[in-house]
Amino acid sequence: MTYPAHVTDGLLGHTKRVDQNPVFGDNRFKLGVFAPNVSGGMIMSHAETGFRVTWDQQLEIARAADRGGLDAVVPVGRWTGFGGDTNFNGVCFETYTWAAGLAQATENIAIFTTTHLPTVHPIVAAKMATTIDHISGGRFGMNLVMGWFTPEMEMFGRAQLEHDRRYEFGQEWLDFAMRLWNETEPFDVDGEFFTSHGAHGYPRPVQAPRPALLNAGSSPRGQRFAAQNVDINLIALPTEQVPDYVGRIKSTAQDDHQRDIDVWTYCLVICRETEKEARRVQQDIIDRGDWAGAKNVMDVLGVQSPSFATQITEMQERFIAGWGGPNVVGTPEQVAEQLAEYEEAGLTGAVFGFLDYARETPEFCDEVLPILQKNGLRA
Ligand SMILES: Cc1cc2nc3c(=O)[nH]c(=O)nc-3n(C[C@H](O)[C@H](O)[C@H](O)COP(=O)(O)O)c2cc1C
Repeated sequence: MTYPAHVTDGLLGHTKRVDQNPVFGDNRFKLGVFAPNVSGGMIMSHAETGFRVTWDQQLEIARAADRGGLDAVVPVGRWTGFGGDTNFNGVCFETYTWAAGLAQATENIAIFTTTHLPTVHPIVAAKMATTIDHISGGRFGMNLVMGWFTPEMEMFGRAQLEHDRRYEFGQEWLDFAMRLWNETEPFDVDGEFFTSHGAHGYPRPVQAPRPALLNAGSSPRGQRFAAQNVDINLIALPTEQVPDYVGRIKSTAQDDHQRDIDVWTYCLVICRETEKEARRVQQDIIDRGDWAGAKNVMDVLGVQSPSFATQITEMQERFIAGWGGPNVVGTPEQVAEQLAEYEEAGLTGAVFGFLDYARETPEFCDEVLPILQKNGLRA
């Protein structure tokens, strides 16, 4: 397909490689703010917080992370809340438009969308991604989610696919988007899930061959999808299980697809001047927890209820404080130490939430980053 020069000047070609995205910068251990766009963030609780899902706060959080030198902001893709007492995540911003706004408002940090692949056609998604990649000058990335929360899929009138089939759908979706970002001639698609005639998309994204990609699948099929396609796999595992997991997914990526993959964790950070105060805040989050909401999440996720009541309670507590992920709790020194332990275990980054994002993001940058710098984890 040809265009006159005045239409295409500077726009048709990719101008950066994806490995120039800030998430592949010089910092040995990458850090990102996670879930600031959904009510509760990573916390299902009535604990006191100034956190509100308003655009003013989104700007404040993203700009603090950007100025403070963090590597990424990653939203949660959510269409409905989890009920219970707080309707956790029920108030939320859509993540492509959110990313576009924050891309314009920031300078250095990577901005992600989190996209449920069944809810958006690849032609629309690829075009939105390209547009945000241009707005951000090549700082855009996509967290690819297959859609596991059935009430959400039902809002779209879609039947929920069986677990592994969701990844087959995701693969076809991504293959389609990759062609839109890279092929020079219009093409046809005749797949199991998509058909298209004369598909094409200009301009190219800034990043070649595509924006940075994340995926948080950790099931065997999820790991295979991640190993084949994405730059970063997000997990939450006990530290002692991390080395095996990282070794396995890196070998799959290398042996089956001749590529590399990074593995990051997600966690809740509660950093205070004293350990005692940090632990008090953590306990208050749990004491004022949304137990019904946590139970809903566990039911939807099919978390097998252990037979002992104490174990059920422990598991609910983990969802109340940190979405089932680990808590990094203590003084700035202790927080830095725990992040260093993740790095030693083989992880190369973490995304994390706070009780009060707008207040705690700049505090984290001021107090924890200098320690990580001193310890060689940050450039
Ligand atoms: C850090 C992280 C972020 C996630 N973000 C979302 C999200 O925003 N929206 C969503 O529907 N699922 C999200 N998920 C769920 C995953 O996309 C995925 O469905 C889940 O990890 C289970 O995949 P698996 O069954 O292949 O292991 C997230 C998971 C993790 C660990």
